[in-house]
Amino acid sequence: MEARDSVTGGGALRRAAQVLRGGGLVVFPTETVYGLGANALDGGAAARIFAAKGRPQDNPLIAHIARLEELASLVREIPGRARLLAEHFWPGPLTMVLPKSAAVPDAVSAGLDTVAVRMPSHPVARALISLAGVPVAAPSANRSGSPSPTTAAHCAADLDGRVDVILDGGPCEVGLESTVLSLAGEVPLLLRPGAVTLEQLREVLGEVAVDEAVTGKAGEDRPASSPGMKYKHYAPRADITLVHGSRGAFRKFLEERAGTGAFALLFDEDAACGLPGVESLSYGSETDFAAQGGLLFARLRELDERGAKTVYAHAPKPEGVGLAVYNRLVRAAAFHEIYLDD
Ligand code: TXA
Ligand code: MG
Repeated sequence: MEARDSVTGGGALRRAAQVLRGGGLVVFPTETVYGLGANALDGGAAARIFAAKGRPQDNPLIAHIARLEELASLVREIPGRARLLAEHFWPGPLTMVLPKSAAVPDAVSAGLDTVAVRMPSHPVARALISLAGVPVAAPSANRSGSPSPTTAAHCAADLDGRVDVILDGGPCEVGLESTVLSLAGEVPLLLRPGAVTLEQLREVLGEVAVDEAVTGKAGEDRPASSPGMKYKHYAPRADITLVHGSRGAFRKFLEERAGTGAFALLFDEDAACGLPGVESLSYGSETDFAAQGGLLFARLRELDERGAKTVYAHAPKPEGVGLAVYNRLVRAAAFHEIYLDD
């Protein structure tokens, strides 16, 4: 059974909520990326998510809630820091990791004693969760390993026939998955950067540590604190190299590769004066991290559609939301990076 519903009326939402209550799978829009949802209190339903995505069993899911009151049933206690963060950033693109309650099935937490919780701001997500009357476990609605979906068409391309309902709410505004912050230890630990920035978190909390997986690869020899970060992720079929350097140096680098069939993933400013001999796609202005975040995953999919084999991507500045853009791109590039001299 599958229906692709444009969310124009309450009918589609009510049907989707019913599917969730019955243990089925619903793809729904959030402000970050599309989610592949199931009842977070039903281990069997959550297990279906892993099958539909082809997701490794040791990678836990985020439980989505619509109201702060729903948090209490999922966690052992709500620390003051969590309340403070909720006041500042919920609803919105922040996920908090907290010690889990017995209500959270192992399939959701992947056997960990913590659970990740987020309250999305997208009106369709909020209405769906409210109507379902249960928290909704949802990873990004892509097949495991492919870029996260920012349109309903991306979800259909990956998951057609594997889910019960796809709700189409148009393109996602943020375009990058939520910031993930662990509050399970002494010091808050950033596990995945997103649109709620490290700078903003530090303004509210003071000290925030950064997991080494945020800027580098999770060590092969130690358990990843966020299991999702150890997988090659967000990856198109093309071989991507992330290139650090000024506009002039990047341009010269591309000129040396003109006529080789290479593609460039670059900024509006790089493209402004034309690049003979190199096919290119822009992912926004070099100074507009929000625009880069909004475009990145769609551009990675377009590179595949255009048959790109070798791609040189101009690296963003890793600050503010740019840290999240960099974190996704460096994974898409399987950590292949070049630093140019200016
Ligand atoms: O924006 C988002 O967060 C989207 C939308 C749908 O809400 N969801 C999303 O889910 O990106 P997913 O499954 O693709 O990413 C969840 C991340 C993974 O890196 C996972 O390892 C981490 O959160 N995570 C989940 N539970 C965790 C836990 N208990 N401890 C540490 N990391 C956890
Ligand atoms: Mg994902």
